[in-house]
Amino acid sequence: MSDREWWKSAVFYQIYPRSYADSNGDGVGDLPGITAHLDHLNDGTPHSLGVDAIWISPFYRSPMADFGYDVADYRDVDPVFGTLADFDRLLAAAHEHDIRVIVDFVPNHSSDRHPWFVESRSSRTNPRRDWYVWADPAPDGGPPNNWQSRFPIGSAWTLDGTTGQYYLHSFLAEQPDLNWWNPEVRAEMEATLRFWLDRGVDGFRIDVAHMMLQDPDLRDNPEPLTIESRRMDEDWPEVHEIHRSWRRLLDSYGDRMAVGEVWILVPERVARYYGEANDELHLAFNFSFLRQPWVASAFREATDQFESLLPVGAWPDYTLSNHDVHRARSRYDSTADGGRGPAGLARARVAAMMLLTLRGTPFIYFGEEIGQADAEVPPERALDVEGRDPERAPMQWAPGAGAGFTTGDPWLPIGSEADRVNVAAQRDDPASMLGLYRRLIWYRKGSAPLLRGSYRSLDAPEGVFAFVREADGESLLVALNFTDAAARFDADGASDGAVERRGHVELSTDAVRHTDVEVSLAPLILGPNEGVVVRLAQAGT
Ligand code: GLC
Repeated sequence: MSDREWWKSAVFYQIYPRSYADSNGDGVGDLPGITAHLDHLNDGTPHSLGVDAIWISPFYRSPMADFGYDVADYRDVDPVFGTLADFDRLLAAAHEHDIRVIVDFVPNHSSDRHPWFVESRSSRTNPRRDWYVWADPAPDGGPPNNWQSRFPIGSAWTLDGTTGQYYLHSFLAEQPDLNWWNPEVRAEMEATLRFWLDRGVDGFRIDVAHMMLQDPDLRDNPEPLTIESRRMDEDWPEVHEIHRSWRRLLDSYGDRMAVGEVWILVPERVARYYGEANDELHLAFNFSFLRQPWVASAFREATDQFESLLPVGAWPDYTLSNHDVHRARSRYDSTADGGRGPAGLARARVAAMMLLTLRGTPFIYFGEEIGQADAEVPPERALDVEGRDPERAPMQWAPGAGAGFTTGDPWLPIGSEADRVNVAAQRDDPASMLGLYRRLIWYRKGSAPLLRGSYRSLDAPEGVFAFVREADGESLLVALNFTDAAARFDADGASDGAVERRGHVELSTDAVRHTDVEVSLAPLILGPNEGVVVRLAQAGT
């Protein structure tokens, strides 16, 4: 892989800046807080996590109706996060740590307080009127069509009293949709991309990359709306032109990349965002793992399906959590113990091994590396309209009141396990989740099969997801036991051709299992909730 393709071998780490580290005691995380913790992310040694890139969720000026996904100035930092100079310092320090930085780009909508929208709504003849999507009321005075906002549930149209027309907002009324049919909007947003590229960012995470354009005739969506419906309000064919133009822009800078949030539930459609000639997104987020129950065959199918759907030359990616869904640690918990028992943690270890050994770029959500669970957020402290507070609670750095996140009052409650589950407690404990993440990531860096090898899943007993990765004559078997009971797996046919009886255990999720030892493959015995990486003898040896 060339250096231009660094994003194929990189491990990415998502930082939700409000919740990572607060440097000034106001209870909200900020950019200097991130800068102060870069050694945790990568200090060049296996004592650190070893991630290669961070994606920082929005830190732009915002009234925070959607906590930064409502942007009031695309080219400035909100004071709660710091200043542009703080951003430049963060970027420089990250690059010194060999960490690339991608920033969030939110093209579909701005804040209703953005000066563009303030102008746009001021009169029907304002030059910026057409920068947003305005339409006359239906004959009965109601909304122009049946489109619904993604949240809160309801019409995607709000009537503006001043001018008597409705404006489109696919999310909150405070997030009016920009009109991407207007070339001025395209030019202005491209200039925004250049602004950040010229500052030195390594790329973008593109918010709702499948939206932006809708039916120019504003026809109704089919009813009832199903996953398969041909929607009129998203995934519009010409959106691919926009992605092609951005790809050309990024490529003109040499080594920059984009990963798009294509939140469509039909994987075939997600795959199209790579472009027929690999000329659109470098990566389209593969969210299939966010929806799977903790069942081995479900993960195998999701993986095999994404692998098979990708256009030739396109590169897969995987993620277990982000700021919009409950944390994997909590999702995978057996509900019996209310999400706090060992099962969730043990499964999260298996999930970590899966994430970091599959063929494709892994995205880790902050806190996953310590097995952080969702926080309990009592109703009186709930802030997000969509109920996404639990997974956005602050990073747990250390024991104590503010969990090392803040010296002030944290904007969201600290998780109830923070005194036990934190970076300080795990830093020197090889058996910890952090120890496991570090081993996996640093092993991956030196492994041709894991970085760029082929992928082939194997038939395995129920409850086991097993696959082989091969490159340069080296083969690794990954076997993941999704059950609470030990599993036996006849893995002697794992490598094509030669029947092998023994392999070499490179890694295990089980902190007490011996690694760096020979092991039988006929059968391979896996402990409860155990995943292993086993090196198979090289062909011909
Ligand atoms: C994306 C973001 C989400 C946000 C929404 C609207 O889905 O991930 O957090 O609320 O877009 O911008």
